[in-house]
Amino acid sequence: MHEFDGKWVLITGANRGIGKGIAELFAREGANLITLCRSHSSETDSYLSSLEQRCGIQIKRYYADLSDHDVLNATLKSIVSENKVIDVLVNNAGIAFGASFLMTSVKKLKEVFEVNYFSQIMIMQMIVKSMLKNRSGVILNMASVGGIETNPGYLAYGSSKAALIYATKCLSKEVGIYGIRVNAIAPGLIETQMGNYKSEDEKDKVVQRTSLRRTGEVDDIAQMVLYLSSDKAKYITGQVIRVDGGR
Ligand SMILES: NC(=O)c1ccc[n+]([C@@H]2O[C@H](COP(=O)([O-])OP(=O)(O)OC[C@H]3O[C@@H](n4cnc5c(N)ncnc54)[C@H](OP(=O)(O)O)[C@@H]3O)[C@@H](O)[C@H]2O)c1
Repeated sequence: MHEFDGKWVLITGANRGIGKGIAELFAREGANLITLCRSHSSETDSYLSSLEQRCGIQIKRYYADLSDHDVLNATLKSIVSENKVIDVLVNNAGIAFGASFLMTSVKKLKEVFEVNYFSQIMIMQMIVKSMLKNRSGVILNMASVGGIETNPGYLAYGSSKAALIYATKCLSKEVGIYGIRVNAIAPGLIETQMGNYKSEDEKDKVVQRTSLRRTGEVDDIAQMVLYLSSDKAKYITGQVIRVDGGR
Protein backbone atom coordinates (compact mmCIF):
# COMPACT_ATOMS: atom_id res chain seq x y z
CA MET A 1 0.00 0.00 0.00
CA HIS A 2 1.43 3.37 -1.04
CA GLU A 3 0.32 6.85 0.06
CA PHE A 4 -0.61 7.84 -3.50
CA ASP A 5 -2.48 4.67 -4.48
CA GLY A 6 -5.49 5.66 -6.58
CA LYS A 7 -4.66 9.39 -6.58
CA TRP A 8 -4.55 11.39 -9.82
CA VAL A 9 -1.52 13.60 -10.45
CA LEU A 10 -1.34 16.03 -13.39
CA ILE A 11 2.23 16.79 -14.51
CA THR A 12 3.28 19.16 -17.29
CA GLY A 13 6.46 18.43 -19.24
CA ALA A 14 6.48 14.81 -18.06
CA ASN A 15 8.35 13.58 -21.12
CA ARG A 16 11.88 14.50 -20.02
CA GLY A 17 14.09 16.12 -17.41
CA ILE A 18 12.65 16.90 -13.99
CA GLY A 19 9.06 16.20 -15.12
CA LYS A 20 9.96 12.68 -16.19
CA GLY A 21 11.62 12.04 -12.82
CA ILE A 22 8.51 13.33 -11.02
CA ALA A 23 6.24 11.10 -13.14
CA GLU A 24 8.42 8.07 -12.45
CA LEU A 25 8.44 8.66 -8.68
CA PHE A 26 4.68 9.24 -8.38
CA ALA A 27 4.03 6.13 -10.50
CA ARG A 28 6.26 4.08 -8.19
CA GLU A 29 4.22 5.44 -5.27
CA GLY A 30 0.99 4.16 -6.87
CA ALA A 31 -0.39 7.41 -8.35
CA ASN A 32 -2.24 7.50 -11.65
CA LEU A 33 -0.89 10.16 -13.97
CA ILE A 34 -2.33 12.76 -16.29
CA THR A 35 0.53 13.94 -18.48
CA LEU A 36 0.38 17.22 -20.36
CA CYS A 37 3.24 17.39 -22.84
CA ARG A 38 4.12 19.35 -25.94
CA SER A 39 6.06 16.66 -27.78
CA HIS A 40 4.36 13.52 -29.00
CA SER A 41 6.93 10.81 -29.67
CA SER A 42 6.84 7.03 -29.90
CA GLU A 43 9.74 6.97 -27.43
CA THR A 44 7.68 8.83 -24.78
CA ASP A 45 4.62 6.71 -25.58
CA SER A 46 6.47 3.46 -25.01
CA TYR A 47 8.14 4.84 -21.87
CA LEU A 48 4.73 5.79 -20.40
CA SER A 49 3.24 2.42 -21.39
CA SER A 50 6.07 0.60 -19.66
CA LEU A 51 5.56 2.79 -16.57
CA GLU A 52 1.87 1.80 -16.52
CA GLN A 53 2.76 -1.87 -16.66
CA ARG A 54 5.65 -1.76 -14.21
CA CYS A 55 3.70 0.20 -11.58
CA GLY A 56 0.15 -1.05 -12.24
CA ILE A 57 -1.19 2.46 -12.73
CA GLN A 58 -3.12 4.37 -15.40
CA ILE A 59 -1.71 7.22 -17.45
CA LYS A 60 -3.93 9.59 -19.43
CA ARG A 61 -2.00 11.57 -22.04
CA TYR A 62 -2.78 15.05 -23.29
CA TYR A 63 -0.78 17.30 -25.59
CA ALA A 64 -0.49 21.08 -25.85
CA ASP A 65 2.15 23.69 -26.50
CA LEU A 66 1.93 25.99 -23.49
CA SER A 67 2.63 28.99 -25.68
CA ASP A 68 -0.50 28.32 -27.77
CA HIS A 69 -3.16 29.46 -25.36
CA ASP A 70 -6.15 28.50 -27.53
CA VAL A 71 -4.97 24.92 -27.77
CA LEU A 72 -4.01 24.93 -24.09
CA ASN A 73 -7.44 26.20 -23.08
CA ALA A 74 -9.22 23.52 -25.14
CA THR A 75 -6.94 20.81 -23.73
CA LEU A 76 -7.52 21.96 -20.15
CA LYS A 77 -11.29 21.84 -20.76
CA SER A 78 -10.95 18.23 -21.92
CA ILE A 79 -8.78 17.37 -18.92
CA VAL A 80 -11.28 18.71 -16.36
CA SER A 81 -14.31 17.24 -18.08
CA GLU A 82 -12.70 13.81 -18.42
CA ASN A 83 -11.06 13.74 -14.96
CA LYS A 84 -13.42 14.66 -12.15
CA VAL A 85 -10.74 14.43 -9.48
CA ILE A 86 -7.24 15.84 -9.78
CA ASP A 87 -5.46 15.44 -6.45
CA VAL A 88 -2.13 17.03 -7.36
CA LEU A 89 -1.07 19.47 -10.08
CA VAL A 90 2.64 19.79 -10.82
CA ASN A 91 3.30 22.80 -13.04
CA ASN A 92 6.73 21.70 -14.17
CA ALA A 93 7.21 22.62 -17.84
CA GLY A 94 9.26 25.73 -18.49
CA ILE A 95 11.88 27.30 -20.70
CA ALA A 96 15.21 28.98 -20.05
CA PHE A 97 16.42 32.12 -21.73
CA GLY A 98 19.59 34.05 -21.07
CA ALA A 99 20.43 37.50 -22.42
CA SER A 100 21.55 40.76 -20.90
CA PHE A 101 18.95 43.30 -19.85
CA LEU A 102 19.69 45.55 -22.84
CA MET A 103 19.58 42.63 -25.29
CA THR A 104 16.25 41.24 -24.06
CA SER A 105 13.50 42.45 -26.38
CA VAL A 106 9.99 42.87 -25.06
CA LYS A 107 8.92 40.30 -27.69
CA LYS A 108 11.30 37.73 -26.16
CA LEU A 109 10.22 38.67 -22.65
CA LYS A 110 6.60 38.03 -23.65
CA GLU A 111 7.51 34.66 -25.21
CA VAL A 112 9.17 33.51 -22.00
CA PHE A 113 6.28 34.77 -19.89
CA GLU A 114 3.76 32.99 -22.17
CA VAL A 115 5.27 29.64 -21.16
CA ASN A 116 6.70 30.27 -17.68
CA TYR A 117 3.93 32.47 -16.32
CA PHE A 118 0.71 33.05 -18.30
CA SER A 119 0.18 29.40 -19.21
CA GLN A 120 0.85 28.40 -15.58
CA ILE A 121 -1.82 30.84 -14.45
CA MET A 122 -4.29 29.42 -17.01
CA ILE A 123 -3.57 25.88 -15.83
CA MET A 124 -3.96 26.81 -12.16
CA GLN A 125 -7.19 28.73 -12.78
CA MET A 126 -8.76 25.78 -14.58
CA ILE A 127 -7.54 23.01 -12.27
CA VAL A 128 -8.18 24.86 -9.03
CA LYS A 129 -11.87 25.15 -9.99
CA SER A 130 -12.04 21.38 -10.08
CA MET A 131 -10.12 21.15 -6.78
CA LEU A 132 -12.56 23.62 -5.22
CA LYS A 133 -15.46 21.29 -6.03
CA ASN A 134 -13.62 18.49 -4.20
CA ARG A 135 -12.52 20.75 -1.34
CA SER A 136 -8.97 19.39 -1.58
CA GLY A 137 -5.90 19.47 -3.74
CA VAL A 138 -2.22 20.30 -3.89
CA ILE A 139 -0.53 22.55 -6.44
CA LEU A 140 3.22 22.65 -6.95
CA ASN A 141 4.88 25.20 -9.19
CA MET A 142 8.40 24.67 -10.48
CA ALA A 143 10.04 28.02 -9.84
CA SER A 144 13.82 28.43 -9.65
CA VAL A 145 16.48 29.96 -7.43
CA GLY A 146 16.73 32.28 -10.44
CA GLY A 147 13.38 33.74 -9.36
CA ILE A 148 14.78 34.52 -5.88
CA GLU A 149 18.38 35.51 -6.55
CA THR A 150 19.14 38.26 -9.03
CA ASN A 151 21.46 36.92 -11.71
CA PRO A 152 22.80 39.17 -14.44
CA GLY A 153 21.87 37.94 -17.92
CA TYR A 154 18.62 36.30 -16.88
CA LEU A 155 16.02 39.09 -16.91
CA ALA A 156 13.36 37.10 -18.78
CA TYR A 157 13.77 33.76 -16.99
CA GLY A 158 14.31 35.23 -13.52
CA SER A 159 11.41 37.64 -13.65
CA SER A 160 9.04 34.98 -15.04
CA LYS A 161 9.93 32.69 -12.12
CA ALA A 162 9.66 35.57 -9.62
CA ALA A 163 6.17 36.23 -10.98
CA LEU A 164 5.32 32.53 -10.60
CA ILE A 165 6.46 32.67 -6.96
CA TYR A 166 4.15 35.64 -6.35
CA ALA A 167 1.26 33.77 -8.01
CA THR A 168 1.97 30.73 -5.81
CA LYS A 169 1.76 32.78 -2.61
CA CYS A 170 -1.25 34.76 -3.80
CA LEU A 171 -3.29 31.66 -4.75
CA SER A 172 -2.32 29.88 -1.53
CA LYS A 173 -3.90 32.69 0.48
CA GLU A 174 -7.11 32.57 -1.56
CA VAL A 175 -7.72 28.81 -1.53
CA GLY A 176 -6.28 27.65 1.80
CA ILE A 177 -9.69 27.98 3.40
CA TYR A 178 -10.96 25.32 0.96
CA GLY A 179 -8.27 22.80 1.91
CA ILE A 180 -6.07 23.44 -1.11
CA ARG A 181 -2.31 23.89 -0.64
CA VAL A 182 -0.11 25.76 -3.11
CA ASN A 183 3.70 25.73 -2.90
CA ALA A 184 6.67 26.36 -5.16
CA ILE A 185 9.99 24.58 -5.43
CA ALA A 186 13.09 26.54 -6.37
CA PRO A 187 15.69 24.15 -7.78
CA GLY A 188 19.32 25.10 -8.10
CA LEU A 189 21.36 23.75 -11.00
CA ILE A 190 19.96 20.33 -11.93
CA GLU A 191 21.46 17.94 -14.49
CA THR A 192 18.94 18.08 -17.34
CA GLN A 193 18.90 19.57 -20.82
CA MET A 194 17.97 22.89 -19.23
CA GLY A 195 20.73 22.53 -16.66
CA ASN A 196 23.11 22.27 -19.60
CA TYR A 197 21.76 25.53 -21.02
CA LYS A 198 24.56 27.24 -19.12
CA SER A 199 28.13 27.09 -20.46
CA GLU A 200 30.62 24.81 -18.65
CA ASP A 201 32.30 27.92 -17.24
CA GLU A 202 29.01 29.30 -15.91
CA LYS A 203 28.09 25.90 -14.43
CA ASP A 204 31.46 25.69 -12.73
CA LYS A 205 30.97 29.11 -11.12
CA VAL A 206 27.57 28.02 -9.80
CA VAL A 207 29.04 24.79 -8.37
CA GLN A 208 31.81 26.78 -6.66
CA ARG A 209 29.22 28.86 -4.77
CA THR A 210 27.12 25.80 -3.89
CA SER A 211 27.82 24.45 -0.38
CA LEU A 212 27.62 20.82 -1.52
CA ARG A 213 29.94 21.65 -4.47
CA ARG A 214 27.90 19.72 -7.04
CA THR A 215 24.92 19.99 -9.31
CA GLY A 216 21.61 18.40 -8.31
CA GLU A 217 19.87 15.33 -9.69
CA VAL A 218 16.35 15.07 -11.03
CA ASP A 219 15.43 12.80 -8.12
CA ASP A 220 16.44 15.52 -5.59
CA ILE A 221 13.59 17.63 -6.97
CA ALA A 222 11.14 14.77 -7.48
CA GLN A 223 11.49 13.72 -3.80
CA MET A 224 10.59 17.25 -2.66
CA VAL A 225 7.57 17.31 -4.99
CA LEU A 226 6.42 13.99 -3.53
CA TYR A 227 6.90 15.19 0.04
CA LEU A 228 5.05 18.49 -0.49
CA SER A 229 2.20 16.61 -2.21
CA SER A 230 1.84 14.19 0.67
CA ASP A 231 -0.05 14.48 3.94
CA LYS A 232 3.32 14.76 5.69
CA ALA A 233 3.32 18.35 4.41
CA LYS A 234 -0.33 19.04 5.28
CA TYR A 235 0.50 22.24 7.21
CA ILE A 236 2.77 23.70 4.52
CA THR A 237 1.35 26.19 2.04
CA GLY A 238 2.39 29.43 0.34
CA GLN A 239 6.07 28.50 0.59
CA VAL A 240 8.99 28.46 -1.81
CA ILE A 241 11.28 25.57 -0.92
CA ARG A 242 14.82 25.82 -2.25
CA VAL A 243 16.43 22.55 -3.31
CA ASP A 244 19.78 23.91 -4.41
CA GLY A 245 22.62 22.26 -2.49
CA GLY A 246 23.08 25.43 -0.46
CA ARG A 247 23.64 28.55 -2.53
N1 LIG B 1 17.41 22.12 -14.70
C1 LIG B 1 17.63 23.14 -13.92
O1 LIG B 1 18.79 23.46 -13.59
C2 LIG B 1 16.47 23.93 -13.37
C3 LIG B 1 16.74 24.87 -12.35
C4 LIG B 1 15.71 25.61 -11.82
C5 LIG B 1 14.41 25.43 -12.29
N2 LIG B 1 14.17 24.52 -13.26
C6 LIG B 1 12.78 24.39 -13.72
O2 LIG B 1 12.36 23.05 -13.70
C7 LIG B 1 11.40 22.81 -14.74
C8 LIG B 1 11.81 21.61 -15.56
O3 LIG B 1 13.09 21.90 -16.12
P1 LIG B 1 14.04 20.76 -16.72
O4 LIG B 1 15.39 21.02 -16.15
O5 LIG B 1 13.43 19.42 -16.59
O6 LIG B 1 14.07 21.24 -18.24
P2 LIG B 1 14.09 20.42 -19.60
O7 LIG B 1 14.84 19.16 -19.44
O8 LIG B 1 14.53 21.42 -20.61
O9 LIG B 1 12.54 20.05 -19.82
C9 LIG B 1 11.63 21.08 -20.03
C10 LIG B 1 10.23 20.48 -20.16
O10 LIG B 1 9.33 21.57 -20.39
C11 LIG B 1 8.62 21.33 -21.60
N3 LIG B 1 8.29 22.54 -22.32
C12 LIG B 1 9.12 23.55 -22.67
N4 LIG B 1 8.45 24.46 -23.39
C13 LIG B 1 7.18 24.02 -23.51
C14 LIG B 1 6.02 24.51 -24.14
N5 LIG B 1 6.02 25.66 -24.85
N6 LIG B 1 4.88 23.80 -24.04
C15 LIG B 1 4.85 22.63 -23.35
N7 LIG B 1 5.92 22.11 -22.74
C16 LIG B 1 7.07 22.80 -22.82
C17 LIG B 1 9.56 20.47 -22.43
O11 LIG B 1 8.84 19.83 -23.46
P3 LIG B 1 9.55 19.43 -24.87
O12 LIG B 1 10.24 18.13 -24.65
O13 LIG B 1 8.40 19.34 -25.82
O14 LIG B 1 10.50 20.54 -25.22
C18 LIG B 1 10.11 19.54 -21.36
O15 LIG B 1 9.20 18.54 -21.07
C19 LIG B 1 11.32 24.13 -15.54
O16 LIG B 1 10.21 24.87 -15.14
C20 LIG B 1 12.59 24.84 -15.16
O17 LIG B 1 12.49 26.24 -15.28
C21 LIG B 1 15.16 23.76 -13.82
